[in-house]
Amino acid sequence: MLGFRRTRELPVCGANGAGGPPPYKEAPPPFALPRPEARAAPLAAIRAAHGDKLRLCDALEQVADTLPGHVDRILCLQIANALVPLLRDVHRYEEEVIFPAYEAIRGATETTATSLRRLCAEHVEDECFADEVTQVLLSIGHGCAIDNPEAVGFMLRGLFETLRRHIAFEAEHILPAIAGPAHAS
Ligand SMILES: [Fe+2]
Repeated sequence: MLGFRRTRELPVCGANGAGGPPPYKEAPPPFALPRPEARAAPLAAIRAAHGDKLRLCDALEQVADTLPGHVDRILCLQIANALVPLLRDVHRYEEEVIFPAYEAIRGATETTATSLRRLCAEHVEDECFADEVTQVLLSIGHGCAIDNPEAVGFMLRGLFETLRRHIAFEAEHILPAIAGPAHAS
């Protein structure tokens, strides 16, 4: 359990804010929602979704690495806009399509059920955590002071490291089963 989630301090607006308008610039979002056209092919869809989540993790790491003085506030807003919708879409797709397919292949054993229950529980935890991170990123993106950059960085790292571990487990155990023996490494 990530106990630090409840101990981090949110940045608040104050007299010591970074000041000045955020550095607006034209740049495409570093990630996208899952591609609807790919959903006819579950394996391709989930690989694309994992790629989107990993790009999101990279963006979160970039923010964490540049706190507090060089943080890209536009990037914070882009992440804040995409984070929870992306996770919800990917999680829903996994739970409705990928996990049932995995269970059909592996069989309804207790081991399989335990693994899928854990993954589903992590989805809930990650969405709750992402919601908290979104509020922080919105605050930073709107120009508020970052009063405790260490706590914010710790929070961001907690999220993207958790997401990367979750993706790595699914990539190692779930996707090969879906792909079948011809694609297993
Ligand atoms: Fe997942």
